[in-house]
Amino acid sequence: MNLSKNFLPLVFSATFIFISCKGEKDDHRVTAADPSDLNSEIFRPNFHFTPEENWMNDPNGMFYYNSTYHLFFQYYPEGNVWGPMHWGHATSEDMIEWKELPVALEPDELGYIFSGSAVVDSNNTSGFGDGTTPPIVAIFTYHDPKGEEEGRIDYQSQAIAYSLDEGKTWTKYEANPVIANPDIKDFRDPKVTWDEQNKQWLLVLATIDRTLFYSSPNLKDWELISEFGQGTGAHDGVWECPDFFPIQVENSEETKWVLIQSLNPGGYNGGSGTQYFVGDFDGKNFIVDPAMENLEEKHDFWIDYGKDNYAGVTWSNIPGSDGRKLSIGWMSNWLYAQEVPTEKWRSAMTIAREITLKQKDGTFRIFSLPVRELDKYKTTIFEKDQLSAGGSNIISEETDGDLSRAEISFEIPQLTNNRYEFYMTNKEGDTLRFGYDHREKQFFIDRKQSGLTDFSDDFANKISTAPRTADDDTLSVTILLDRTSIELFYDEGETVMTEIFFPTTPYTTFSSNNKEEFSIQNIKINQLNFEIAETTPSKQ
Ligand code: FRU
Repeated sequence: MNLSKNFLPLVFSATFIFISCKGEKDDHRVTAADPSDLNSEIFRPNFHFTPEENWMNDPNGMFYYNSTYHLFFQYYPEGNVWGPMHWGHATSEDMIEWKELPVALEPDELGYIFSGSAVVDSNNTSGFGDGTTPPIVAIFTYHDPKGEEEGRIDYQSQAIAYSLDEGKTWTKYEANPVIANPDIKDFRDPKVTWDEQNKQWLLVLATIDRTLFYSSPNLKDWELISEFGQGTGAHDGVWECPDFFPIQVENSEETKWVLIQSLNPGGYNGGSGTQYFVGDFDGKNFIVDPAMENLEEKHDFWIDYGKDNYAGVTWSNIPGSDGRKLSIGWMSNWLYAQEVPTEKWRSAMTIAREITLKQKDGTFRIFSLPVRELDKYKTTIFEKDQLSAGGSNIISEETDGDLSRAEISFEIPQLTNNRYEFYMTNKEGDTLRFGYDHREKQFFIDRKQSGLTDFSDDFANKISTAPRTADDDTLSVTILLDRTSIELFYDEGETVMTEIFFPTTPYTTFSSNNKEEFSIQNIKINQLNFEIAETTPSKQ
């Protein structure tokens, strides 16, 4: 968050098929409308979570309980720009279709309710339980606007609240705050996890240029045990919204600890971004992998290189029998989040993603892919072993799909010194350009001509790039498209780029216009339906 915010209150033919992802809420989607009419809903995503109304930023308090995924979020219920923060609330059975519930936590005399986390206290270590129901304990930052106005620096502290009805209603702890401010100006966003090995609760929180680690037996009494972060990674902004958890290395018995650390500004392509570090944890200290000890500002360990995935963290209490690390991020960027051309609501979340860790090139890398729960919404509408892509449309018109809710996947085999460029376009000529330049080993997204861009100088002024860290001869690409967002998963999720856009009408064609002829293989297009349609795959 930047301080100024504090003071501001292939060719497809598009067909419209009803999709419902808003639970009991009305369907807002329309196929065409005047984009200058900000009250219209032409930019509302088809399948990414948005609040029905008003402003949203970071995901908060995510926990899984009783077959339900809970998502809380930074929410200002009275306006479409950032304001006094509440926790909004939504639930889902599969992290795809969300149902928005009433606001869960409201500001009080101690301040606004900033970002934080929630855990299921199964052993009632906090004593908040009633003997039958395990308490859900939320840990959040109080941001005292009065203290800030008075020019003090100790206006952020950590507090807890508990719920005995699965997150619907909360009781704030009478002895809040549980971690007082130690005279540090940016001191926020606690994320708690249970450390099974050392039988303790662990809390990480972010300060200006480092992560602080605390431990507790009961979620109320916290001891500062260590810190991490000075001298490594990106620091061109304030560190915010950390996450810290153990994860098994793929195809091995080894467990590593991952520290996810967002910062703003200072992201890889400017503004908000989320980097990560991998290492070991000895019960007190995070010992980072030697390869990540002295990372430069412009390093290549980012959860997502696009401009629009921020403050993402993982769900707590995922059962061991599932064992996945599941995350979601805020699909915007503080550079322009408050200016994007939507009126009724502002900001969406990314698709929920599964995070895995792989050992690679003497170090470790995080991979992320959409959660498999998305699969049940897919209908394959196009499949082909091979297509010639250079200089032509990739998919021809007989594919009757809707690019506002599609997943396109393919591979580019035998990479050569070439620039592989793809376009999403509409009849108006709005064009989103993205692809991979093998000469520079660099992915790119260019939204200069993507539609409405002039609401902020920072939205489309630069082409976003990402280094390719994989070195296979074949590049795999999975593209997840909603009405106003693209999520690009390259090399099975080793490099991810997420960006939003605002075309005057939805994009209807997907093409490539490469000067050189090239082939793509194993092409598959899935339509994302929320009522599973009976369509037979069309092989051309
Ligand atoms: C990150 C952030 C957090 C803070 C919250 C306030 O986007 O700035 O650090 O808790 O937003 O809404």
